[in-house]
Amino acid sequence: MRRADNRLEWPLADTIRESRALTPELHQKLTAWRRHLHAHPELSLQEKATAAFVQDRLTELGIPFEAGVGGHGVVATLTRGSAQGRVGLRADMDALPITEDTGLPYASKTSGVMHACGHDGHTASLLGAAALLAADTSWSGTVDFIFQPAEEGYGGSRAMVGAGLFERFPMDRVFGFHNWPGLAAGTIAVHDGVVMASGGRVTITIEGHAGHAGMPHLTRDPVMAAGHLIVALQSIVSRSVDPLDTAVLSLCTIEGGTAPNQIAGRVTIRGTLRFHREAVKDVLLARISEICAGIATSLGVKVTPEIVMGVGVVVNTPDEASLARAAAEKVRAEVRRDLAPSMAGEDFAFYLQKRPGAFVWIGNGELRDGAELHGPRYDFNDAILPVASGWMAEVAKTALASN
Ligand code: NI
Repeated sequence: MRRADNRLEWPLADTIRESRALTPELHQKLTAWRRHLHAHPELSLQEKATAAFVQDRLTELGIPFEAGVGGHGVVATLTRGSAQGRVGLRADMDALPITEDTGLPYASKTSGVMHACGHDGHTASLLGAAALLAADTSWSGTVDFIFQPAEEGYGGSRAMVGAGLFERFPMDRVFGFHNWPGLAAGTIAVHDGVVMASGGRVTITIEGHAGHAGMPHLTRDPVMAAGHLIVALQSIVSRSVDPLDTAVLSLCTIEGGTAPNQIAGRVTIRGTLRFHREAVKDVLLARISEICAGIATSLGVKVTPEIVMGVGVVVNTPDEASLARAAAEKVRAEVRRDLAPSMAGEDFAFYLQKRPGAFVWIGNGELRDGAELHGPRYDFNDAILPVASGWMAEVAKTALASN
């Protein structure tokens, strides 16, 4: 269903109305900023104007920052009082190569590029948290606001860490959130432990020997080998991974051959693997390698698997998950701790390998047709900006107060 209405006019959930940490004026301002970012999306590694927009807003708010941290990354810092604690809050800024189909008045003005994952909303929410903490005299310590580029598979968190994020801004803990379509607007889900999957991209090349389709005995057929290989690889999740673990191995593209009367010389298969535990990764990698070698030997072809791994599993640390829940209760959001982890990935995982922290989901509201994350009709729900900004500000204060 096409939607061209203005989300601010949507009825707010009671929990959002109650938890309204922002003034109506700040909510309006954040909504305008969010929609500006939505209309001007930039792909991973190209977030130049977005980073400049963030810097302009921080300048208006009087918050000092450093730009160019790991590419287009920006880190702003607020220090208040004498407490030594230091907390990081992170938002991602990049958009996707997707053509928007929302019909919204603030739809993308850049053809083929869209904020289809709500990183526009994450960025606006973090600016809101900065505004709240800048105006709040009730806390003591240091808060770093991490505006991260290149989350969508282009290593933004790794680049910022590589640029000395935790040495230049020595924070003790990190927190972040992702909006979650299908979860009630403003509800905050905090997982105990695993939140999101790690994974990798799989490319398998099968090299045979091309020849006449009528004389198969003179060839080595990579298409037939691909058939055996695909079926055999599907035994890994069902027969090699512990059934109490979670794993996915999806082979999604297959290319090979040019003529119906020639046996091809080469086939390429591409897919993805996902898991929630590093030990499962070892099983997947070992079995892929063994099965490829076995098919190669038995069918006389050369099989070369190539696997590029992502950054890791997103796992909340126990103390920080508690702090995240306490902050959610303080902003009077509905809190869920019963949701299963997702098989989607998030490069926030890389921060959690370096520092304790928690990554929560904030409900974006009802899941509409085509409006799931990375869908062409997705839109960030501006009604959740008060909860999102409020929770980020509150989790920083709660964490600092707990030191
Ligand atoms: Ni995202």
